[in-house]
Amino acid sequence: MIYETHTHFDDKAFDIDRDEAIREAMAAGVTRFVNVGASLEGSIRSMELADKYPEFLAAVGVHPEECASLSEADIGLLEEYAERENVVAIGEIGLDYYWDKPERDIQKKWFAAQIALARKVKLPVIIHSREAAQDTYDILKAEKADETGGILHCFSYGCEMAKQFLDMGFYIGVGGVVTFKNAKKLKEVVGYLPLDRIVTETDSPYMAPVPMRGKRNTSAYLPYIVKQIADIKGVSVEEVEKVTYDNAVRLFGK
Ligand code: NI
Repeated sequence: MIYETHTHFDDKAFDIDRDEAIREAMAAGVTRFVNVGASLEGSIRSMELADKYPEFLAAVGVHPEECASLSEADIGLLEEYAERENVVAIGEIGLDYYWDKPERDIQKKWFAAQIALARKVKLPVIIHSREAAQDTYDILKAEKADETGGILHCFSYGCEMAKQFLDMGFYIGVGGVVTFKNAKKLKEVVGYLPLDRIVTETDSPYMAPVPMRGKRNTSAYLPYIVKQIADIKGVSVEEVEKVTYDNAVRLFGK
């Protein structure tokens, strides 16, 4: 049993074979999925998937790259969505200084607003943070995200930052990058993290693990990620599956 904590099956990359791809992932041993919204439309599609499949849960939120046109009314909409039974997190939200658009002040404003929403509706947050470690940490701290908890998704920082986020009560999302030969830093971080603070994810359709690197990613490839974590930690695949599954259940409540 594998828990997929971050997938985008609503993405247009799955328009041609969505149901089949989801069935393949289930056949590969994935029994629970959080489909993560990256925009308002994506949040709605995530809830639709959660309505359709009992194995699916939804996260609703707006990704930093999509936040330029947000309004207070949109935050009100997200609040309505968040009241639904199968919505378990606010995300993905955060800061992206790699693409660096829209401008940082706008990203920060809507990041903070969505953390405040998460506190209000008492849901954890799923964080996208790229080349923005310190600002991410500072805003989470200022907005009291230690009260909501959550996941640092697709973690790309070093052990020191990881420790700070662990101290705030967060889990670290590990995906396909951990299988890349040149992913020395992430492998070190996985070696450092206690297994009971790691959650598994693909971020599909992006970031396919080796040996599927470069292809469309899907949750069916999660076993490659689990295997790599098991090898780094020197424990069995079954142990990684069980502990990371329990971690996700503890965080999302189901
Ligand atoms: Ni994502």
